[in-house]
Amino acid sequence: MLSKSIENALNKQVRIEAESSQIYLAMAIWAEVKGLEGISSFMYSQSDEEREHMLKLVKFINERGGEAHISELDAPNLKHKTYKEMFEKLLEHEIFVSESINELVHISLQEKDYATHNFLQWYVAEQIEEEAVARTILDKVKMIGDDKGGLYLFDRDIQQLTVDSAAETPE
Ligand code: FEO
Repeated sequence: MLSKSIENALNKQVRIEAESSQIYLAMAIWAEVKGLEGISSFMYSQSDEEREHMLKLVKFINERGGEAHISELDAPNLKHKTYKEMFEKLLEHEIFVSESINELVHISLQEKDYATHNFLQWYVAEQIEEEAVARTILDKVKMIGDDKGGLYLFDRDIQQLTVDSAAETPE
C-alpha cells in the first residue's frame, strides 16, 4: 500500500513523463516540417516511449492501492533554432528527468517503501540509457557542425545510431 506522500511523488512523475512525451512530440513536428524525416521519426518514437514510462507508473500506482492522477500539462516551451540546440535540450531534459527519478528513489528509501524502491530501479536503468543515447547523438551533431552532407547522413542514420548506442550501454 502506498503512503500518501509516495503516491503524490509518483503522480508528480506521471506528469513529468507525460510532459516529456509532449516535448518530444513537439520536437518530432519541428523536424518533420523541416524535412528531417529520420530525426523526426526518432523523436516520434521517443515520445511514444515517454508515454509508456507514464503508463508504467500509472499501473503501479493503481496496483499498489493508490490512484493515478492525470493532470493538466504545460505546453512544450521550445525555443531552439537549430537541430543542434534541439538535441542539447533533449539531453538537458533527460538529466532533469534523472534527477527527478533520483529524488523519488531517495523518498522511497526514506519511507522504507522497498516495493516502490524496487519498481524505480527500472527507471534508474532507463535513465542511464537515455542519457547515453542523448550524449552519443550530441557528440555526432557537434562533429557534423554546419556540414549539410553530414546532416543528410545523420538524418538517414539516426535510428541505427541510437540502437547501437543502447546496445553498448552497460547493464
Ligand atoms: Fe521517461 Fe526520457 O524519461
